[in-house]
Amino acid sequence: MSEGYYNSKKTDDICDDVCGEQGTPTALSMSRLRCILRGLDFKTYVFLFVAVPLGIFGLYLHGQKITYFLRPLWESPPKPFHEIPHYYHENLSMETLCKLHGWGIRESPRRVFDAVLFSNEVDMLTIRWKELYPYVTQYVLLESNSTFTGFVKPLLFSSNRDRFKFVQSRLTYGMIGGRFKRKENPFIEEAYQRVALDQLLKIAGIEDDDLLIMSDVDEIPSAHTINLLRWCDDIPQVLHLQLRNYLYSFEFFLDNKSWRASIHRYQAGKTRYAHFRQADVMLSDGGWHCSFCFRYISEFIIKMKAYSHYDRVRFPHYLNPDRIQDVICKGSDLFDMLPEEYTFKEIIGKLGPIPHSYSAVHLPAYLLNNAEKYKYLLPGNCRRESG
Ligand SMILES: *[C@@H]1O[C@H](CO)[C@@H](O)[C@H](O)[C@H]1NC(C)=O
Ligand SMILES: *[C@@H]1O[C@H](CO)[C@@H](O)[C@H](O)[C@H]1NC(C)=O
Ligand SMILES: *[C@@H]1O[C@H](CO)[C@@H](O)[C@H](O)[C@H]1NC(C)=O
Repeated sequence: MSEGYYNSKKTDDICDDVCGEQGTPTALSMSRLRCILRGLDFKTYVFLFVAVPLGIFGLYLHGQKITYFLRPLWESPPKPFHEIPHYYHENLSMETLCKLHGWGIRESPRRVFDAVLFSNEVDMLTIRWKELYPYVTQYVLLESNSTFTGFVKPLLFSSNRDRFKFVQSRLTYGMIGGRFKRKENPFIEEAYQRVALDQLLKIAGIEDDDLLIMSDVDEIPSAHTINLLRWCDDIPQVLHLQLRNYLYSFEFFLDNKSWRASIHRYQAGKTRYAHFRQADVMLSDGGWHCSFCFRYISEFIIKMKAYSHYDRVRFPHYLNPDRIQDVICKGSDLFDMLPEEYTFKEIIGKLGPIPHSYSAVHLPAYLLNNAEKYKYLLPGNCRRESG
């Protein structure tokens, strides 16, 4: 008889004894519990004392992912845009281009105002302003000494002004002091700054029917798109631009779903600077949106902290520079989140890192003309400089 068999037999015997005993109901149920626990095999113990706690810890770590994954159950997608086909070839005349869109051509182009709230995207701002340079009448830029989340922020435009001498004669610059209400919803500070931008636009001399670009610094309309819209008559009063979404650099093409940028034919007293949906029409393929496209790891950290979704930095190690570099090169998510989509098919289709893209065709001209300087934005150069 083996030792193991003997032991288990003995256990059974003890249990039989206890379970057969007479006693008070409490004592009886206590000993029954003991019997049940004794009767469980090793695997069940592992399950109870290892797998269950691990599962609970996993829920703590990934709870956000689970809610995101289940999003299609509790949220339906917004009403789709009416997407206007976009025609372009460099050899077509403006008259032909306008006609292809069903618009007439004007005697002279509209004036163009490009207005942005600036945080710390110095390189993106340069690429944007160079891209739009031939067509912009006035650049309007507002910066604040407060992030949307209420932290003190250096005035980075002000201190880098020498890099923007090329727009000097066309620039209306404004600075607004933050209110530093730390616990407030960051969207309130953001709205406050956008209202100030409306004032600044008036100071810049905007008038009815001027073309106004409302978009974040990293949402860059392509030059030919703006040229089309300033020359054609009868374009919609408010038109969203569909932009190609990139993350970290032009190496990681995500999708075509960026829609927040919008173009307005300005109406005094009516047009308000906003970054939400303001119309149902959207022009296809209107430019680029490069999120978190920074040169230095330190800028990623600043942005992650200043972000309106600061609650996404759930663990301090998310801000570790080595981790951030790793995430950038892999094309995975800085906040370890799931894709924000409305159907299971799309969520599953986007799980895991973004595939590398090796196309640098149709990128902003200034970027390609200065490829060495902006190498980190081009395919195959994910490692960031320290600093
Ligand atoms: C564009 O037009 C130029 C001059 O009219 C011509 O030489 C060139 O071949 C055209 N390019 C294309 C791609 O059609
Ligand atoms: C922010 O700017 C405002 C306006 O210039 C100034 O009064 C305030 O002291 C500044 N705050 C900080 C913390 O720099
Ligand atoms: C995005 O749009 C471009 C141009 O319209 C198209 O070539 C590309 O296939 C689209 N990509 C995706 C993922 O939708």
